[in-house]
Amino acid sequence: MINYKDLGLVNTRDMFTKAMKGKYAIPAYNFNNMEQLQAIIMACVESQSPVILQVSSGARKYANQTLLRYMAQGAVEYAKELGKGKGIPIVLHLDHGDTFELCKSCIDYGFSSVMIDGSHHSYEQNVELTCQVVEYAHKYDVTVEGELGVLAGVEDDVKAEHHTYTQPEEVEDFVKKTGVDSLAISIGTSHGAFKFKPGQDPKIRLDILREIETKIPGFPIVLHGSSSVPQDLVKIINQFGGKMKDAIGIGEDQLREAAKSAVCKINIDSDGRLAMTAAIRKAFAENPAEFDPRKYLGPARDALKALYIHKNEKVLGSAGHACD
Ligand code: G3H
Ligand code: 13P
Ligand code: ZN
Repeated sequence: MINYKDLGLVNTRDMFTKAMKGKYAIPAYNFNNMEQLQAIIMACVESQSPVILQVSSGARKYANQTLLRYMAQGAVEYAKELGKGKGIPIVLHLDHGDTFELCKSCIDYGFSSVMIDGSHHSYEQNVELTCQVVEYAHKYDVTVEGELGVLAGVEDDVKAEHHTYTQPEEVEDFVKKTGVDSLAISIGTSHGAFKFKPGQDPKIRLDILREIETKIPGFPIVLHGSSSVPQDLVKIINQFGGKMKDAIGIGEDQLREAAKSAVCKINIDSDGRLAMTAAIRKAFAENPAEFDPRKYLGPARDALKALYIHKNEKVLGSAGHACD
């Protein structure tokens, strides 16, 4: 058993309290490899933002659980090195945990926060599963994110065709019964790069968010599926041989609006994938004779870093809040 505090990590409790007060959201960026992790840390130190390093079960299988633990510990030390001795608050979070066993294993391996996503179960089963995770996690001061409502799109092995919006009538009961520390809601965001079809109104239901806030005032809300799918990145991908037709995301203005509310955590994965893919495709096309991975992963890392700084400064509003 490794306690996250020994790795220099923090849980989400203080972070969310401060984010709520300061009317900004904490970035939750997914990572699977070293370059992504380096870019996240470089960007968050440079913009002085707290950060949630997010690992899906697929990422955990890909990267290996032991390596991940040391990568997170390395990230804490790297942030201090970049900050000349002064680090930033860093959370290691399990994204879309689907079983008690997975959540427990992550907690035992040094995660400081876990999501138990029981949203695909019945309400009663979701409550039961979430309670079980909260009971274990809180013994170690690990924070837990639950979910109510189903997002359209793909999450690891689960695919939903349509949104089931979170019902504001359920949130108070769920939060009380389970003891979760934050709640992911479904208000029209979705996972992946194809969130809306051409001709659709690409809007999220901020009205439902406001209703939820009145039911659980001051309770930290999480938005999944919050990539904006920058069209300049899609264009570069397509220009250099990619095939991404009609990729559409959530407008940054809407996310900025949401970040000023009880939304304390905003999940972004796909935009990072797009930035990396665009940079790598461009590097391959422009330097076909090059075969040193650093020559294409380096530009990808630079593109990621620029993307994350932009998000922290202009979308989430978390820049400058590392020392709140
Ligand atoms: O919500 C899904 C995240 O983007 C993680 O994706 O399960 O392919 O690692 P993944
Ligand atoms: P995106 O696919 O919109 O980046 O969402 C990521 C996410 O919600 C991870 O849990
Ligand atoms: Zn998600």
